[in-house]
Amino acid sequence: MTNMKGKTLVITGATKGIGQAIAEKFAQNGVNIAFTYNSNGEIAQVLVNELESKYGIKARAYPLNILETDEFKPLFEAIDADFDRVDFFVSNAMIYGRPVVGGYGKFMRLKPRGLNNIYTATVNAFVVGTQEAAKRMEKVGGGAVVTMSSTGNLIYIENYAGHGTNKAAVEAMSRYAAVELGEMNIRVNAVSGGPIDTDALKAFTNYEEVKAETIRRSAMNRMGSPNDIAGAVYFLCTEEAGWITGQTIVVDGGTTFR
Ligand SMILES: NC(=O)c1ccc[n+]([C@@H]2O[C@H](COP(=O)([O-])OP(=O)(O)OC[C@H]3O[C@@H](n4cnc5c(N)ncnc54)[C@H](OP(=O)(O)O)[C@@H]3O)[C@@H](O)[C@H]2O)c1
Repeated sequence: MTNMKGKTLVITGATKGIGQAIAEKFAQNGVNIAFTYNSNGEIAQVLVNELESKYGIKARAYPLNILETDEFKPLFEAIDADFDRVDFFVSNAMIYGRPVVGGYGKFMRLKPRGLNNIYTATVNAFVVGTQEAAKRMEKVGGGAVVTMSSTGNLIYIENYAGHGTNKAAVEAMSRYAAVELGEMNIRVNAVSGGPIDTDALKAFTNYEEVKAETIRRSAMNRMGSPNDIAGAVYFLCTEEAGWITGQTIVVDGGTTFR
């Protein structure tokens, strides 16, 4: 079994939902956590205290707006001041609400501004975050990067064209990164989730319908939970996944095939 104790995870958007579950999963296994928040600074501090007291690891929270990609460099410099190494990077945060206007909607209503914001939040944030993380991972002999994707790039989900196309793009980008970062002993993969019960899903205008349809389609006859995703992300960062790179693991309870 991989010894993960004393390693450091950097993850964007861990105040709630999937990001929070991932942070907790790594902390349970002795990994120190540097995570970002956007609007929920107070919740982030509560989470820092909880992770430290429950799991005896070091945790710190940093503000980050993924739409401002210039913020990644100073973010990692702040992380350097608090942590002596970076081993794992998970590109998880996602925008919602106002910035996705024109990006979340039916095809005939899509607007370049909303679509570009989703590209920035999905692909650019992955690229600049991974570049900064990779420089640190190289110094400790390697590491692992995981980007969050979703099965909305494989199957039709109402109003999801903007997100779905950008998830397809980030999966492709992660394969390019995997090829070029392999020489630094850095593996890069994506986890593509089916619908998971989080605030992001609750923001869907047809949330109840999506939830009922997910349960109906799932071979497991239930909705996906953030912990379902966290397990796959954690696995991809362990030595057990040492020859897995440039891949997308679909974690969807069997919903995509049905
Ligand atoms: N839920 C699903 O069905 C599902 C399925 C597949 C994939 N995913 C993917 O999984 C990831 C996490 O989704 P989730 O459902 O867990 O979302 P969520 O519960 O809504 O959490 C979103 C996170 O992103 C942060 N965030 C929001 N706007 C931001 C911004 N402008 N800059 C930086 N951070 C920002 C939030 O921070 P604050 O709380 O501090 O604002 C929060 O921590 C996303 O990449 C999503 O596309 C989700």
